[in-house]
Amino acid sequence: MTRYVDIASLEDIPAQGARLIRTTDGCVALFRTADNRVFALDDRCPHKGGPLSEGIVHGHQVTCPLHDWVFDLTTGAARGADQGAVRTWPVRVERGRILISAESLMRGKAA
Ligand code: FES
Repeated sequence: MTRYVDIASLEDIPAQGARLIRTTDGCVALFRTADNRVFALDDRCPHKGGPLSEGIVHGHQVTCPLHDWVFDLTTGAARGADQGAVRTWPVRVERGRILISAESLMRGKAA
């Protein structure tokens, strides 16, 4: 069962903006869409490591700021056949608070 951790208020992220969470093994980017949904993806673009949190959010997608690859925020998949994907993490919004799976924050720690 997924355990969730309260990490921020929905108001901490501007609409169509992003916020970065530093974890033990890299950064997770939280994206808020215009319809107030929140998604969590690894911040590192699989192309050449661009920071997705600095990309442009449009619809339920984000465009990497470096070379314009477009990622689906719901799946992490890049648009186009074999362009790869970024990992996504479970997120919930409850009463204006953002909860993210504890696993996303603990990854990389020795078992
Ligand atoms: S680093 Fe993201 S598209 Fe090139």
